Amino acid sequence: MKKITASWLPVALGVIILVIVTGQLFLPSKSTSNLSLAQASFPENGVWKVPDTAAIPTTEEGDLIRYGKELIANTAYYLGPKGIVAQVSNGMNCQNCHINAGTKDLANPFYMVASTYPRYRERSGRVESVEFRVNDCMERSMHGQKIDSLSTEMRAMVAYLNWVGKDLPKGAKPAGAAVEELPYLERAADPARGKVIYEQKCARCHGANGLGVPNPEGWGYTYPPLWGPNSYNISAGLYRLSRIAGYVKHNMPFDSAALGYKLTNEQAWDVSAYITAQPRPVKTFSFDWPNIAKKPVDHPFGPFADSFSAEQHKFGPFRPIKEAKELSKRN
Ligand code: HEC
Ligand code: HEC
Repeated sequence: MKKITASWLPVALGVIILVIVTGQLFLPSKSTSNLSLAQASFPENGVWKVPDTAAIPTTEEGDLIRYGKELIANTAYYLGPKGIVAQVSNGMNCQNCHINAGTKDLANPFYMVASTYPRYRERSGRVESVEFRVNDCMERSMHGQKIDSLSTEMRAMVAYLNWVGKDLPKGAKPAGAAVEELPYLERAADPARGKVIYEQKCARCHGANGLGVPNPEGWGYTYPPLWGPNSYNISAGLYRLSRIAGYVKHNMPFDSAALGYKLTNEQAWDVSAYITAQPRPVKTFSFDWPNIAKKPVDHPFGPFADSFSAEQHKFGPFRPIKEAKELSKRN
C-alpha cells in the first residue's frame, strides 16, 4: 500500500483537471451571500443553517478544509482503485451517501459531527474520535483500508467535517440530521416487490445489474454501484434496512425532485430489501456490538439477545423485535 503523505503538486494538478473535466468551480463566487448567511445561522434566529461552502476562508486552514471537501466529493479520484494519492477504497465517493458533501438534509449530513465527537458508540463499545469514525466508513462503506490519522488527507477531511458543524451548539439537533426514521411496515419488506420498483425507477441509472456506471474518465462512477464487488460491504451502515430505506425515501431516484415525486414508504422499504438481498463484499469485525443487547433491531447478524431469526432482523417485520426489546428493558 502506498503511504499517504502530503503531496500538494498532484493534488493541485488534480483539482485543475477536475475543474476542466467537470466544469465545476470550487472557488467563492457569491461573496454577497456571506453576511446574510452569518445572520441566518444558529443561534441568531434560532434556526441553524448549514454554512455555505463558498464561505470557507481563504487561509491555510481554509485550504485544508477545501481539500477535505474535495476528498469527500471526489474520493475515488484521490483514494479509489486508481487514486492519485493512494489506492485504498472501492471507487465510490463519500458523497454518494453523504449527499452534497454532507450538507443535504436527510442524506446522512455531517451537521452533528463537530458537536458530538468524540462520542461513545455502541457498535464499537468505546469512545470514538472523528478519525476513528471516518475510518469506519473507509473500511465498511468504502470497503477499503484505514488511513493514517496524521495524514494530510485525514486531517483535511476532519477539518471539513468540523467546519460543517462549527456553529451548531452542543445538544442541538437540526431537523434534517441523519435520515428519516421511516415507520415500520407491518410485514417483512419484500425483495420480490422491490425488484419491480428497482426495474422501473432505479435501473436506468444504477444499471439492471446494480453495478453502477463508471465515469468516462475511468477513476470512479457516474452512477455508483448498489451491490457487487465494488459496493459497500455487509458491515456498512447502509446494509441495515432502516438506514438504506430512510436514505432512499428522500434522495432516490436522484432526479425525483425534478420529476416531482417521491417513493412511498412501502416502496422505499421494498426496493431497499431488493438491494440488500443482492451479493456484496463480505467483511466482518469481530469486535462489533460487544453488548449484543444494544444491537439495532435491523442488525442482521447474530448472536442476538432475542429469539427472532436473522432473516427477521434483516427484512422485518421489525415492530415485534422492537417491542420485545422494550419489554426486556423494563424487566
Ligand atoms: C455507502 C454509503 C456511505 C459511504 C460511501 C460513506 N458513508 Fe459515512 N456513513 C454512512 C451512513 C449510513 C452513516 C450513518 C450510520 C449509522 O447511522 O450508524 C455514516 C456515518 C458517517 C459519519 C458519522 C456521522 C455522525 O453524525 O455520527 C461520518 C463522520 C462519516 N460517515 C464519514 C464518511 C466519510 C469521510 C466517507 C468517505 C471516506 C464516508 N462516510 C463514506 C454511509 C456512508
Ligand atoms: C437519475 C439517476 C438515478 C436514479 C434513477 C436513481 N439513482 Fe440512486 N444514485 C444516483 C446518484 C448520482 C447517486 C450518488 C449521489 C451523489 O454522489 O451525489 C446515487 C446513490 C444511491 C445510493 C447510495 C450510494 C450507493 O451506491 O449505494 C443508493 C442506495 C441509491 N442511489 C439507491 C437508488 C434507488 C433505490 C433508486 C430507485 C428508487 C435509485 N437509486 C435511483 C443516481 C440515481
